[in-house]
Amino acid sequence: MAAIYLLAASFLGGPSRHKSVPPRARVRAVATVDPAVLKANEALHAASCERSDLRYRPTGAFIEPEGLEWERFSFPAAPDTYKGIDALPPRPFTTGDLARVSTRAFLTGEQCATLIAEAEAVGKSAWDLPAAVDGAAATYARRAGTTLEVYELSRGCELFKSVLLPSLFPAVVSAFADALCELPPSRLRVQAAFVVKYNASAGQTELGYHRDGPLVTATVALNSPSEYEGGGTLIEALGWPATPPTPLRLPTGHVLLHPGNVRHGGAPISAGLRYILVCFMYDAAVADHARLCTMNAQGLLAAALRKARGSKARRRALEAAAAEYRNALACGAGDKSEAAHVGLGQTYFELVSYDGPAALAAAVENLEAAAERAPFDAHTLSFLSTACLAAGLKERALKAATDAVAADPASAVAHNNRGLILDGMGKPAQALEAFAEGLRLEPSNTELLVNFGVSSYDLGRADTAVRCFRTVLELDPKHRRAADNLAQLQLAGLG
Ligand SMILES: *[C@@H]1O[C@H](CO)[C@@H](O)[C@H](O)[C@H]1NC(C)=O
Repeated sequence: MAAIYLLAASFLGGPSRHKSVPPRARVRAVATVDPAVLKANEALHAASCERSDLRYRPTGAFIEPEGLEWERFSFPAAPDTYKGIDALPPRPFTTGDLARVSTRAFLTGEQCATLIAEAEAVGKSAWDLPAAVDGAAATYARRAGTTLEVYELSRGCELFKSVLLPSLFPAVVSAFADALCELPPSRLRVQAAFVVKYNASAGQTELGYHRDGPLVTATVALNSPSEYEGGGTLIEALGWPATPPTPLRLPTGHVLLHPGNVRHGGAPISAGLRYILVCFMYDAAVADHARLCTMNAQGLLAAALRKARGSKARRRALEAAAAEYRNALACGAGDKSEAAHVGLGQTYFELVSYDGPAALAAAVENLEAAAERAPFDAHTLSFLSTACLAAGLKERALKAATDAVAADPASAVAHNNRGLILDGMGKPAQALEAFAEGLRLEPSNTELLVNFGVSSYDLGRADTAVRCFRTVLELDPKHRRAADNLAQLQLAGLG
């Protein structure tokens, strides 16, 4: 009989006796963070301010926003109906500070057209798809637009520095007057600024829900909503409990502001081209240790994952990443975002092969904490389901995987994961259906095809399995699991 291993077989740890998760305690002892860590962060922060001054120092005098009015959006009035971090405003914001939409333009139609034209001219070689830095970005950014950093433009960057920033900086402070009254506009800096292009014919249509991190995000509409169908910005907490929320669609030159930590996304366009300019701003006087530690930890985790499985070096690197994620949480990262808990959960999950059930319990605990903070984040929920299955928490695993599909029904990854969970629970027919749903979204997704093949075999349909593995090998001749599975079926006289 052919023994066939699918991805689920590589879940780490296996069944565990740790079926209950110990109660969570929110860690808030800033005092436990090594002063050397804080000092390193201060240096990173200073370097980031220096880069901002080099690329994006406003060149005109600040223009006080006379007579400028904003449409105001508040955090959900009844936090008990919205379970997630966005139920409460992140410091220093107040409950009225979920988002602001300007009632007048910050850039004229002509200035917007200049930015688009130059971006298109420069962009012929330089438009970048956002790099899929990790699993989360691969999930939420799978149909993202192309981007171009504003400093790569010449006239466009000049416009940005001489026209937009001199009015934007004071406007940010006055828009969030309660929270930012102490902040002189001259203290704002730009973490990054991009021209983003969504092109429906190219399948670059949307950006899933995510958080930006820096203090305030500005989105400037560069073209008119009449040039595309759909689109706009989705603020997750805005429509709650009605999902999805109504997208905020801005006329040309108008600006949307929101705290960077607020979960938001780009609503899908179904036709046309949509151009926006996004700008992430922060306070030069405040090093955001929670965010900096989280980013450091993400870098350490990525480096650890490049080291050989099972090696001592990998274990040391994973432990370094875990320590930095714990620093991030000690600095309050868990109050602003799920990111540190997701990362720490992933790190512990990778440590299971060294440390066994204790690491698995810590992984589940952190991923649960992440899901509490972002209850509609498909990546978090999928990861949680994987860890729960490894820990033997089958029902919890299935619920998390099903919630992930509900949170992002168009995610083939979420369907694939749900199929693996069902397969792991010994339900091959339901698993097959989940893989089929994923394949309806992405017919040539090789992971889904292999898993569909394996479940077909489990249900006695060896011929379908053979066809699946052959198809995968046509798409990707080096696909190891497809080749191994096919070889085993052939050895058994089935292929
Ligand atoms: C949009 O995408 C289509 C299909 O890839 C392409 O032919 C077209 O040039 C793109 N338009 C712009 C403005 O990039």
